[in-house]
Amino acid sequence: MKAQLLSLLKSNNEEFLSGEQISQQLGTSRVSIWKHIKKLQELGYEIESSPTGYKLLASPDALFPWEFANREEFIRYYPEVDSTMIEAKQLARKGCPAFTVVIAERQIKGRGRLKRGWVSDSGGLYFTLILRPDIPPAMMSRYNFAASLCLAKTLQECFDIDAKVKWPNDILVNEKKLCGMLSEMEMESDMVAFLNIGIGLNVNNNPTDQEPNATSVRQLKGEIISRKLILSMFLDKLQQEIENSDLSHIIPQWKEQTITLKRKVRIATTNETWEGIARDVDDTGALILELEDGSHQKVFYGDCFHND
Ligand code: BTN
Repeated sequence: MKAQLLSLLKSNNEEFLSGEQISQQLGTSRVSIWKHIKKLQELGYEIESSPTGYKLLASPDALFPWEFANREEFIRYYPEVDSTMIEAKQLARKGCPAFTVVIAERQIKGRGRLKRGWVSDSGGLYFTLILRPDIPPAMMSRYNFAASLCLAKTLQECFDIDAKVKWPNDILVNEKKLCGMLSEMEMESDMVAFLNIGIGLNVNNNPTDQEPNATSVRQLKGEIISRKLILSMFLDKLQQEIENSDLSHIIPQWKEQTITLKRKVRIATTNETWEGIARDVDDTGALILELEDGSHQKVFYGDCFHND
């Protein structure tokens, strides 16, 4: 109902629409319309009401389910959670459909990679996407690389941002971190039961308060950018890739967009550190490092620091 009501108000070009007209078009009572309007106003929609009717003046930068036209029933929105990864895991275990998206306005215990935290102040885009690919776990990295590549391309093509991917799955602009990604999966009979991809993208929040080497879409564009638009475009792009291919082209494409290869890097895992030149990424997503003695070392996970 909220989706229909908002789309009716939006299509009326900021003119007043009477309660009578709305209730006729939506097939519901004027009292019910009035209640929905009140709720929307409480949620931050600027709706002017007068004796002649209602007029939508402005919408908040909101991620409510009804803001996602064809995905409304797949969106789980929370004003605040500990971590969207926790909610997503519970939903996935209960059997929710693929492409369910858990979104939070804020996270109290946002998780980063390698057991770090992820500061999740209001204005950022924090979500976990639940996927159910019918693959063995060895193919999982294609999905993670597809997610970072599709998000980088969305930012490039739709928002003119010079987004680059960093191994394994970060997105950087001018060497500053714009986005981090974290994934979790569970198996059933040797196959992936679900793969949850958690994404934290700095959009209208101010990450530099805590992390000087970070940036946000707002800082890059000099204005507030709609998180809903970024998320919808990203989901459409990724879904299109997943539903129409086996993703075997993803790692080669990712390599064209990365700023990690041919660089001097340091990779820190939970208990080891490797230094060398990042020579390649193989089709499992592992980074091939050339060490000082000329030998090659495969690294499967870790934090990557560009050293030059
Ligand atoms: C990193 O360390 O770079 C990964 C950060 C991933 C953060 C996202 S925000 C949404 C999802 N929920 C979490 O708790 N973490 C991920």
